[in-house]
Amino acid sequence: MSQSLLSARRSGALAESYLKVRGESLSLVSGLSDSDATVQSMEDASPAKWHLAHTTWFFETFLLEPRLTGYQVFDPNYCYLFNSYYEQVGERHPRPSRGMLTRPSLEDIRNYRTHVDAGMARFLDSGPTGEILDLVELGLHHEQQHQELLLTDILHLFAQNPLRPAFRAPEPLAVESNGPAPLDWLSFDQAMVQIGHAGSDFAFDCEGPRHEAIIRSFKLASRPVLNAEWFEFMADSGYRTSTLWLSDGWAIVNERGWDAPFYWEQRDGAWMTMTLRGLQPVDPAAPVCHISYFEADAFARWMGKRLPSEFEWEHAAAGREVTGNFADSGRLRPKPPASVASDGSSENLFGDVWEWTHSPYTAYPRFKISEGAVGEYNGKFMNGQYVLRGGSCATPAGHVRATYRNFFQPDKRWQFSGLRLADDA
Ligand SMILES: [Fe+2]
Repeated sequence: MSQSLLSARRSGALAESYLKVRGESLSLVSGLSDSDATVQSMEDASPAKWHLAHTTWFFETFLLEPRLTGYQVFDPNYCYLFNSYYEQVGERHPRPSRGMLTRPSLEDIRNYRTHVDAGMARFLDSGPTGEILDLVELGLHHEQQHQELLLTDILHLFAQNPLRPAFRAPEPLAVESNGPAPLDWLSFDQAMVQIGHAGSDFAFDCEGPRHEAIIRSFKLASRPVLNAEWFEFMADSGYRTSTLWLSDGWAIVNERGWDAPFYWEQRDGAWMTMTLRGLQPVDPAAPVCHISYFEADAFARWMGKRLPSEFEWEHAAAGREVTGNFADSGRLRPKPPASVASDGSSENLFGDVWEWTHSPYTAYPRFKISEGAVGEYNGKFMNGQYVLRGGSCATPAGHVRATYRNFFQPDKRWQFSGLRLADDA
């Protein structure tokens, strides 16, 4: 097939994906009022309206403005309002003040999206090729990342409200589980393995270059750590035993008064947790969620185990089908894992909760930050953060893969983050 036919086919496929991904963002905010979408509940979180506008700004700034003849920028002020962190694109509104933007309204942002979508339809029709199509694809994966952030940020916002509003109608707890699934171990031999993305499918730059790594023999838990086990950790004074904690973590536990996972609260003696489906009882059989790296690390130490490295995790996940409880299931909460076969056939590595690894987020050997503003996407964040793997119940299906690296600072808890134990063999 000629190069131009390949490009035409790819831009056709991307036009279809574009409509799908952009539509999904709008359906996420379908039940939100203008004020729900405007308030910023903390510095780490952004208003839903800001997420909708910023993802749109990405397409306008990196594709339409420089590359579509005759394109009229929707509003020249929006670049200042909705640039997140791209120094090369210019000055921007301070992150902690995103919640002050009562104007433009949610309706204005919907109109902005419509305007940019019309431009993108014309642009994709004009036969873009090669690296330009890569940029469109990056914009779509970027938007999916913000779809997850929109969910984690709206959960944080609603958790501040004493009424504990539900983002989606509360559903009764699933009765599919017969209590907490037993813990099994999957064993892996020492090996020289290939780490990082290979092939022509999309991956973020930080997932490469693919390279060799030596992995010592190890064991990986057949499922994530469950709330039932977290109750035991709490009952055994896990949050009050300094020897379990990294020094920075112990300081934070005391400073912030942590005594349970984020969003947990006691009502009439029972542990409840704020979820996207409102305040719900903590399900002992479900994976523990909304814990920091420090808590994951302390729990593993309490168990006499450790966290996996990101390479161990990737090696265990390589070649497995990427199925699990993602946002598309509509459940929006981690699901109790089924009992696990000892051959590891149901290890739910993907979905439910992002799994903390003990690997710092750093560059793979020979990684180079790409030229231009898009080079600011990942590379400049490679310090002070730890890698999480596998995706969560708030991740759009199809967004993650075995090589996918998510990353957050070790004290962050508002993401759907949990853990899976590892051990030396
Ligand atoms: Fe962004």
